[in-house]
Amino acid sequence: MEVVHTIPELRAAVARARRSGKSVGFVPTMGCLHDGHLSLIRRAKSEAAFVVVSIFVNPTQFGPTEDFSKYPRTMEADRRGCEAAGADLIFAPTTEAFYPAGASTWVEVDGVSDGLCGTHRPGHFRGVATVVAMLFNAVQADLAVFGRKDLQQLAVIRRMVRDLHLPVRIVAHETVREADGLAMSSRNRYLTPEQRPQAATIAAAMAAAQALARGGMTDAGRLREAALEVLRGQPAIRVQYCEIVDRDTMAAVASTEGKTCAIAIAGHLGTTRLIDNADL
Ligand code: PAJ
Repeated sequence: MEVVHTIPELRAAVARARRSGKSVGFVPTMGCLHDGHLSLIRRAKSEAAFVVVSIFVNPTQFGPTEDFSKYPRTMEADRRGCEAAGADLIFAPTTEAFYPAGASTWVEVDGVSDGLCGTHRPGHFRGVATVVAMLFNAVQADLAVFGRKDLQQLAVIRRMVRDLHLPVRIVAHETVREADGLAMSSRNRYLTPEQRPQAATIAAAMAAAQALARGGMTDAGRLREAALEVLRGQPAIRVQYCEIVDRDTMAAVASTEGKTCAIAIAGHLGTTRLIDNADL
């Protein structure tokens, strides 16, 4: 498995794979890889012969008070993980190599980027959409795999691909969880030993809403309240949002009837921000 740092090297390696008749799969990441990321890589490898993983902590999707500079960077372990999961190439550019000096072009996906994380992280999805569009252009893969863990990000990317006619198929992969239900995340390593078990309350809250929905409840207010009741039992979690949304538009709904909906939760434990979601 090769590691490249520039776009010309990336393009040359992908061109070689194409010449030997291989389809190309792509998994964009910010590194600090865990089993969730690795399952995306294995999924890509099951659907494409040549798999590219990007590792790039994208500055434009972090707010001024967010964790960009302290975001964990674990390149050597990431390289081993990628190799074991079946990746063929890692693209790990420097910020200077990836964003041309004075870059001033943005991709804005209106509507789906509003609400939920979009409300609490202004500019975040503009940064995500822009870097993912740039990465798609750099790699030119047949398919790209994204995790359902980042529900709104997935909706933003799907909308961008549709609206701009980008020639890439988006594959959504299930959320990989710890044994107690906590969704794996690079940010989980910020949790203290005391906070770590508390974090599982988010998954328990989603499960309460899911159980109610399975029993036939469609009233979004009641579903939301079932989750909030569980969250109130763990006051260490400061809830940022807990919403029942349409999975395609990210709009809050009053009823889940006839729609594909999800419950989406974000909250802080100490200074660590956690997000999760589940289908209803
Ligand atoms: P990052 O947070 O590193 O996540 C990379 C991919 O892994 C995303 O598609 C995310 O949804 C997926 N992922 C994270 N945790 C997961 C879990 N527990 N189970 C399954 N998949 C999981 O998302 C980003 O990076 C960035 O915004 C990026 C798309 C790379 C653009 O910079």
